[in-house]
Amino acid sequence: MTSNNQPHRPTGYEPGDYPELTAAAVSYALEAKGISRDQVEIGMIWAQTTAGVIGDGADMPWYLPEDLKHFKNATTGYPVVMGRTSWEALDDGFRPLPGRTNYVITRQDDYDAPGGIIEPSIPSALANAAEQILNELKDSASAEGTADERTPTVWVLGGGQVYAQCMPVADRIVITEIDMEAPERFQVYAPLVPTEEFEEHAEEWQESLKGHPVDQEVNPEQPLRYRFCTWTRR
Ligand SMILES: NC(=O)c1ccc[n+]([C@@H]2O[C@H](COP(=O)([O-])OP(=O)(O)OC[C@H]3O[C@@H](n4cnc5c(N)ncnc54)[C@H](OP(=O)(O)O)[C@@H]3O)[C@@H](O)[C@H]2O)c1
Repeated sequence: MTSNNQPHRPTGYEPGDYPELTAAAVSYALEAKGISRDQVEIGMIWAQTTAGVIGDGADMPWYLPEDLKHFKNATTGYPVVMGRTSWEALDDGFRPLPGRTNYVITRQDDYDAPGGIIEPSIPSALANAAEQILNELKDSASAEGTADERTPTVWVLGGGQVYAQCMPVADRIVITEIDMEAPERFQVYAPLVPTEEFEEHAEEWQESLKGHPVDQEVNPEQPLRYRFCTWTRR
């Protein structure tokens, strides 16, 4: 269940850790580039256990190829924004994530993210990513003479700290819910989606062919169940 059934989840973010991310700060950063807030969609995408676990700081508690495909289909061709820890958690060969411009947020002035673009703050990352996708859509429309039908979306890819901060500015949240309990060492959580602000559409549960919890083998008798849920800002 991805509904608001818990008072708090330990996302790793506490108010005061960073300057508060407000809708006004993001609008301001966009407007400084001549972009109005309604020109761009801010999406967040993650996979979680039913209790909201997304990782341990480096790995995820499952192997689920159907989710990897879903994530790739949703985000390829769009700019993606992530925290420095999630960047470092990407597997070799997928850092940067191919087919996407990777914006990496860090407070470290001298941080090097080969193949990615370093950003000192979330508003700056969102504004640069928004400018990029809007320019790409404009260029492809003028090259082809027809409108590019893609929604100008910037995808926020986590992790827990960045999802928690971006909740007030997200327009859409795409969650893969995985019906399993994570081993105790996995302690990074996704934030709760505030149900008063977002409307949920949950698809049917599906059974994975090759997916399994990270500490277990594939069990055809008890396939790993998952479903895709989309939350849209009301
Ligand atoms: N299941 C999923 O779908 C999914 C998706 C993504 C990630 N994950 C998992 O989540 C875990 C990582 O999440 P996390 O919460 O530990 O870390 P994170 O959010 O990926 O990154 C945190 C880091 O980002 C930088 N940062 C965050 N907010 C900032 C701000 N406002 N201004 C400047 N810098 C900022 C800081 O980097 P510096 O310390 O360098 O300043 C901070 O330490 C991993 O286990 C990963 O596998 C899971």
